[in-house]
Amino acid sequence: MTVIATGSSLGLAAKLARTLSQDLIIIEEKSFPDGEKYVRVPQKIKGKAILVHSTHPPQDERFIQLLLAIDAVKNSGASKVVVVVPYLAYARQDKRFMEGEPISIGVILRSLQVAGADAFITVDVHNPSSLDEWLNIPHLNVLPIVQLAEYFKGTLHQPLVLAPDKGAIHRARAIAELLKASYDYLEKRRDRTTGELSLLPKNIEVEGKDVLIVDDIISTGSTLMLAAKSVLMNGAKRVHAACTHAILASSALDKLYNAGVSDIVATDTIPSPTSKISVAEPLANAVSSLL
Ligand code: R5P
Repeated sequence: MTVIATGSSLGLAAKLARTLSQDLIIIEEKSFPDGEKYVRVPQKIKGKAILVHSTHPPQDERFIQLLLAIDAVKNSGASKVVVVVPYLAYARQDKRFMEGEPISIGVILRSLQVAGADAFITVDVHNPSSLDEWLNIPHLNVLPIVQLAEYFKGTLHQPLVLAPDKGAIHRARAIAELLKASYDYLEKRRDRTTGELSLLPKNIEVEGKDVLIVDDIISTGSTLMLAAKSVLMNGAKRVHAACTHAILASSALDKLYNAGVSDIVATDTIPSPTSKISVAEPLANAVSSLL
């Protein structure tokens, strides 16, 4: 088995290779003067290949690189290509919310299969049932619940784990169980046309508590900012923000610190200053269970 990585998540790929006690091969990448992408696997591959490539911004470029890399690895002698995409872009468009829209995640997943993926692993995909719906190769969705809980263990006073919307409650519940804390969720609404967010009134007891808000993604930070402001206004002692994927678009970090969040923690599916937790170990377990 060999771990092969592009530059999109080299740190995580190196940790994964170390955890699996395997060599790491780095794919050569360049752009042509007109913007087209080029990748090259610098040596022959023997046995199974674990290709690690995250599709964080610029998502479109990274997606094309991923398709090219799958083909290149497959044709460099690998008997099987396990595609590991720590952050899978386009996963939030998992249905046609409005007439005329695509199901973006379906297009992305089907393309990976057409390019030659033999198995697929990702981390905390927005809607795990998308994988079952669109892939007919073996696949796994890794949840970094234990790692997130470990990070906060013993550091919170009267902890309440909060999901910013109902769809994120499973994550909050699982972390709360490990922390022996209570959990709840907020009622978030997003205007499908303007993208504007609002929170519906909800009575949650936060007075004097350390509130840990947990989501899958921090993109612009608007969701967590709204949630943080609301719990601080209702008397929370401190607010901590945790997510799996820190995209951090549109000055998200400034927005969150200005809203009064004391700590922002994410995993290394997207390299960022908030990547304080590694998913290398759960990914290594997932790889071992698929091979
Ligand atoms: C949406 O359903 C996701 O789970 C996140 O809550 C959302 O993507 C966060 O985006 P933003 O940081 O831009 O509010």
